[in-house]
Amino acid sequence: MQNQGFPEDFLWGGATAANQIEGAYLSDGKLPSIADAMPGGKKRFKIMGSEDFDWNISKHKFGYPNHKAINHYERFKEDIALFAEMGFKCYRLSIAWSRIFPRGDEEVPNKAGLNFYHQVFDECLKYDIEPVVTISHYEMPLVLAKDYGGWKNKKLIGFYKRYAETVLECFADKVKYWMTFNEINSAYHFPLLSQGMSYGDGAENMTDVMQAFHNQFVAGAYAVKKGHELDKGLMIGCMALYATTYAYDSHPENQWERLKSNQEFNQYCIDVQVNGEYPYYAKRMYCDLNVAKLDITSEELAILKDNTIDYIGFSYYMSTTKNVVDSSLEIVAGNILGGVRNPFLKSSEWGWEIDPLGLRIALNELYDRYKLPLFVVENGFGAIDQIKEDGSIEDDYRIDYIRQHLLAIEEALCDGVNVMGYTAWGCIDLISASTGEMSKRYGFIYVDFDNELKGTGNRLRKKSFYWYKKVIETNGSEK
Ligand code: BG6
Repeated sequence: MQNQGFPEDFLWGGATAANQIEGAYLSDGKLPSIADAMPGGKKRFKIMGSEDFDWNISKHKFGYPNHKAINHYERFKEDIALFAEMGFKCYRLSIAWSRIFPRGDEEVPNKAGLNFYHQVFDECLKYDIEPVVTISHYEMPLVLAKDYGGWKNKKLIGFYKRYAETVLECFADKVKYWMTFNEINSAYHFPLLSQGMSYGDGAENMTDVMQAFHNQFVAGAYAVKKGHELDKGLMIGCMALYATTYAYDSHPENQWERLKSNQEFNQYCIDVQVNGEYPYYAKRMYCDLNVAKLDITSEELAILKDNTIDYIGFSYYMSTTKNVVDSSLEIVAGNILGGVRNPFLKSSEWGWEIDPLGLRIALNELYDRYKLPLFVVENGFGAIDQIKEDGSIEDDYRIDYIRQHLLAIEEALCDGVNVMGYTAWGCIDLISASTGEMSKRYGFIYVDFDNELKGTGNRLRKKSFYWYKKVIETNGSEK
């Protein structure tokens, strides 16, 4: 079949998160967020997933280098000008909650924080770049995790509600596209980042994780409610980490494992936010996961029912392959979602399995199930880049990865799927969330900092910069 290509209004752009680019972690009234209290270094994720973790920043031998990051806080105009040069139609960014409510439990927002994002949005709009905002991307105020125990505590619903209502009210006339929580379902794998719960304080306990999900669903529904009251045209979406899930082979046990883990990981959170109610399989799933009775009120269920999302934002980096039959199969250590090695796929240097067709499958699965517009808000290739003597950076591997994934989106469009846009992750080099490195680069724009953030911080255009510019210019027909 002839490709019909990308629609005229396709939202081409790039994506970042405040805690991975802004730096200035204590400027203008901001207090630390949970991201600011994380360890850095190669063992970062291991420490975060163990009882060795401590919220006390000074206890970490290597701090997560986001305190300075790429200093986007000072250089945002220069960065947005580069996005504009590539022709971005949209730019996905997150608001740092702790710039607006530094502790998280205040009644009055920090004006300086709001003012910063006014400037950022104005700068985007100056170039006709539509901001796409994640309200919370792995960076709740530290106090909410340390003193309140993170999202398992129902008080967080009220704190988030106040925060979300504040930013929605403040920016509704500048921002049309919103997302409530980054990769909400990632809490199955790293509850510390997305639910602010450490091991020994909820992260290891599926009742707490499920209660935290519920509290987040209700809080997100309040954001949807407020957004629609302010302006019916606002689009408020969820954001999930989607990993297309395969069975290793046709053994029925592996097929059943695939189905179950697909429900649990990929579908559960989206089901609730799209349908406004818990799915039929929830009870059995809680039972399998040893979840005790959750605290869910009828008032909360009504809020969920009445305030469902407008679109589905999701990240896609890799697929995952399930096996419960053959214990001799190799586990893919690199894939953040685990699973066994898929013999048909190659991996990135960090062991993430590369699977563009998996994206087409994801788009079809999601659209078939939900019939809502889909937005690929994260996808990209983390790699080590080399600067040549003449200053050029030939990142053909990145171009190739993104090209393959854009082709998959184009096919999905042709399959009849409604895809609103694509924002390449880390459009400008930023700090990696899983490894805390600068050297795991995703950008079209190189930032001259090493893992210790030594360097000039200068921004350089990579080969992929010119390539992506052309892709946008031709609305995806040249890639
Ligand atoms: C997503 C997160 O899971 O993956 C981002 O939303 C993250 O915050 C991105 O940076 C890529 O992962 P990493 O570990 O390579 O930075």
